[in-house]
This record gives sequence, C-alpha cells and structure tokens, in this order.
Amino acid sequence: MTIKPPDSPDGKKSQMWGGRFERGPAAIMEEINASIDVDRRLWREDIEGSKAHSAMLAKTKIITEADANAIHVGLDRIAAEIESGEFVFSKRLEDIHMNIEARLKELIGEPASRLHTARSRNDQVATDFRLYIRRACGETAAAIAALQAALVRQAEKHASSVMPGYTHLQTAQPVTFGHHCLAYVEMLERDRTRFLDAQRRMNECPLGAAALAGVPYPIDRAMTAKALGFDRPTANSLDSVSARDFALETLSAASICASHLSRLAEEIVLWTSPHFGFAALSDAFSTGSSIMPQKKNPDAAELCRAKVGRIAGAFNALLIVMKGLPLAYSKDMQEDKAATFEAIDDMALALAAMTGMIDDMTMNEGAMREAAMRGYSTATDLADYLVRTLGLPFRDAHHATGSIVAAAEKKRVRLDELSIADMRAVEPRIGDDIFKLLTVDASVAARASYGGAAPDNVRAEVKRWKEKLR
Ligand code: ARG
Repeated sequence: MTIKPPDSPDGKKSQMWGGRFERGPAAIMEEINASIDVDRRLWREDIEGSKAHSAMLAKTKIITEADANAIHVGLDRIAAEIESGEFVFSKRLEDIHMNIEARLKELIGEPASRLHTARSRNDQVATDFRLYIRRACGETAAAIAALQAALVRQAEKHASSVMPGYTHLQTAQPVTFGHHCLAYVEMLERDRTRFLDAQRRMNECPLGAAALAGVPYPIDRAMTAKALGFDRPTANSLDSVSARDFALETLSAASICASHLSRLAEEIVLWTSPHFGFAALSDAFSTGSSIMPQKKNPDAAELCRAKVGRIAGAFNALLIVMKGLPLAYSKDMQEDKAATFEAIDDMALALAAMTGMIDDMTMNEGAMREAAMRGYSTATDLADYLVRTLGLPFRDAHHATGSIVAAAEKKRVRLDELSIADMRAVEPRIGDDIFKLLTVDASVAARASYGGAAPDNVRAEVKRWKEKLR
C-alpha cells in the first residue's frame, strides 16, 4: 500500500454524503475510511438485501413498481458485472454499499437514488454481514460433518485395533483406534451444533432499523425478513445496528473447533513420527525436506495445528474492537470483517485438509498393538481381578498390583511374562486364569461399560453415527 501525503488535494466531495462539505477528503482519510478491499466480498448479500428492500418499498407504495423494477434490472446487471470481473471497484466510494449504489445510478439513473429510502448503511451492513455469516455457519457445519464421516470410516475399519490409551501421554490402558476416532466425532458434534446454534440465534433481520432509530415510513420489516430467509425482524433498532455478537459467537465456535483440530493434528504429528510409527500419510499428504532426502513431513497436520492461532486471534480482535463501544453504530465496527472473513476461510481450509488426511491415513496395527502391550498397560486389569475374583478392596488391590509391576520391572518383562510364582509371592491366591486377562484384547473387551472402549461398543457407535451423519 502506498500512502499519499495527508494534504493530497485529489479527493472529490462524496456524491453520497458530501452535501454539507466544502471539500473532499484528504488522501489519507480516504485510505483509512475505505473498506471496499475487504467488504467487496459481501456483494451478493448486498444485492440480495437491496432487492428485498426495494421490493418491500414498492409493496408499501413508498416507491413505485416501475422504480423497483428498474432497480432490480440494474442490480442483476451489476451482479453479472461483478461475477464476470468487469465491475470497477472504487476506493473513493468507500464500501460495497456505495460502490453498488453508484453503479446503479450510472445504469438506471434517478430510480437508483430512491433505493436508499428508509434504510441506512448501518442496517444494510448489519444485514449483509449476518447473511454472509449465516451461510458460513451452514457451510462450516457441513464441513465438520464431512470430517466426522471420515473419522467414522476409520473407526469402522479399526473398531478392534488395539492402541495404547494415554493419560499425561504415559501409557495408561489399552483402547482401540476406533474408540479414539469416535472421541473426536463427539467433540466435532459439539462444534457442529455450536455453529448451528449460532446460526439459529443470529437469524433475525436488522434491515429497516436504518441509522439507529427506525424510520417514519410505513415499511414492512416482516416482509424483508421473510424474503431474506430470516425468522423475524430484530426487535430493537439500536441493537439491530450495533450488535456484532453473531460474528463473535461464530468466531468463538470457530476458535473452539480449531483448538479441537489442533489436538487431532498434534496426534497425527505424533503418530506419524518414527518414534510412534502408528500411522502413515501417503505422498499426497506429505511434504519433503529440501535438505534431508529421507524426510516425509506431515505439514498439513502442522498447519491444522497452527490455524487456531489465527482463528482465536480473529475472535480476540473483534472482541476487543467491540469492547466499550457505546450504542449504536460506530465506525470501529467496520473493522469486524477482515479478521472474520479470514477466520472463516482458515476454518474451511483446516477442516478440508483434516478430512483429507483422515481419509488418507493408514494405521500400522502391529505397531499400535506392540506399543499397547508395553508400559504395563493391563495393570489395572490385574487390580480389577483382585477386586472381582478375590474380593480385595480396590486400594489394597492397587497396592498389590503395584508390587507385581515393580517385580516385572526388575525382571524387565511384561506383566503377562511374569511367572505365576512371582505373582503369588505378592498375593498367594492369584489363579492361573489371570494370564488370559492380562492381554490387551481381553483388556479392551472388558471395558464394555456404556461409553467404554470395548470393540462391541465401538461397532455399535459406528452404526449410530453412520445413521446420524447420513
Ligand atoms: N462500511 C461500513 C461498515 O462496514 C458501512 C456502514 C457505514 N456507516 C456509517 N455510518 N458510516 O461498517
């Protein structure tokens, strides 16, 4: 960006609001004031809103049918011009609303000047932005569902593939990879419904609030609300033009979702590292190193891990823009869009990349099983045996099992490689049947409590999710 000197004389008086002005803005004023580079993205919503508004003005006889028709023809032509790339956006015209209105004037003349009756850019931008974010919420929810479906496919394939479950990233108890995938499906379902909740809550139409106080014309706000797919018009004109919590709520949902993606991404980074070796991404989802020929890097996972930084940054940016703003509209609020648009794009990209990776990823069942067998992962099963079969109180069983683990550690063997004599040295009543309980398969199969890791549970949950996501 080149910034012209502040007293640059080239600013002409605004045709839109320059009536009471003697001269045009300084170049730097134009520079800081213009939002067209960002809000041109709202062109579809702006045209849709203007069509609904002008149709309502005609219906209520505030303008003539002929004027409304001319306005519609002009707006359609502008849409075609923007679509084809021939529309010339001008910074002097500040924003998308005035760019479109000025072009409409060029195209159809006087009727264009009647379009802004009973409306202000304040309710106009509030409406456009809601329409945009409402659609983005729906698209994000659909993208989340696609990721869930990919995870369910992996869960189905790996309903009984044993892997180590961790707490503190220390081997805890065996689980299955399917169960692990379904944990993310649950998380993502909360994310998905958060976007849909936000979408439902924002679905009220601010159009007709005008600058801040409503209008003295007999407008029909229910008509415009309905035409634009809103449930109803907003009930308070001051709130209508000054609320941006619909964007904040969406960004907070995005921040939480991005933080979930970062956790899954981190796991992919771990699983694909040679130290774990649980998973591999194909060449399609890996990158090479410019210096180390052997490297295959999970860059997409790392970028998904990072996206939360920008997305939560956007949430924070808008939250701080909005903090302390008195009612009603303030120009600060023009700063709501850049970060929001970027966050919506980042969210879509991260979800699509993650879906691609999950579908691409092949699991190494042998390596997962091998790892699950290390770290005395079935020690809890031994303790549970002492409780259930021998009637020990759990605390005593925990203590005895700890001694048996220590014995195994001393001999550098797994629990199931200890002799029965070693075990009986700690608890003489342990039976030979203990060994079949100490396998990782027996361990996961035993976790059949509701929500537990047992393969049968995983299969039932896969079935439930497949129906739900269909
Ligand atoms: N470009 C402005 C925005 O995005 C539109 C509303 C301008 N309103 C005003 N009173 N200057 O917020």
